[in-house]
Amino acid sequence: MTGAAQDIEEILLTRDQIAARVVELGGEISREYAGRAPLLISVLKGAVYFLTDLSRAIDIPLAVDFMAISSYSTARAQSGVVRLIKDLDVEITGRHVLLVEDIIDTGLTAGYLLRLLQARSPASLQICTLLDRPRRRILEALPIAYRGFEIPDRFVVGYGLDYRERYRHLPFIGVLRETVLGEAEPAAEQQ
Ligand code: IMP
Ligand code: MG
Repeated sequence: MTGAAQDIEEILLTRDQIAARVVELGGEISREYAGRAPLLISVLKGAVYFLTDLSRAIDIPLAVDFMAISSYSTARAQSGVVRLIKDLDVEITGRHVLLVEDIIDTGLTAGYLLRLLQARSPASLQICTLLDRPRRRILEALPIAYRGFEIPDRFVVGYGLDYRERYRHLPFIGVLRETVLGEAEPAAEQQ
């Protein structure tokens, strides 16, 4: 491996595995949301890679919108304290909303977003996450209707997921080498 990929210790999910699973999820969503024109919402920037592929695997009418948040955290651990940087462009009252996430770890970020969205009275509100890492979950009661893969308790990058804003563009999901992790960590980061 060369370039950014040489910092990867192990590939957990290949480009082909991700693509195949995204097509399956798109099929399920197309069936279950038929006639309801869902609004797919994702948080910049990590989930955007997943959202763009997922939306192309859905063959019913839909719309997409984006939010941006900043979580006060170290590079590897989330605090659950979240600040809204960019709100949605559209109203969601009465809409069928699917929150598309890259990874649910502690669940605190998703919990914050769900409270924010629920307060606007959507017709329905569910989560579609590419990755689920249940080992570190703090907030248990999340409406995860669609889940791409359950992953072990290891920090991963690629396919949108970053470490200090790097590695998002890798077409696979991999574990970062320990030697790359763990230098002085920033106080806040965008998702
Ligand atoms: P939670 O609030 O702990 O569920 O964290 C969710 C957010 O933390 C994700 O949207 C990511 O931005 C970030 N995150 C959690 N785990 C990882 C990881 O393994 N790699 C990269 N980012 C991660
Ligand atoms: Mg991040």
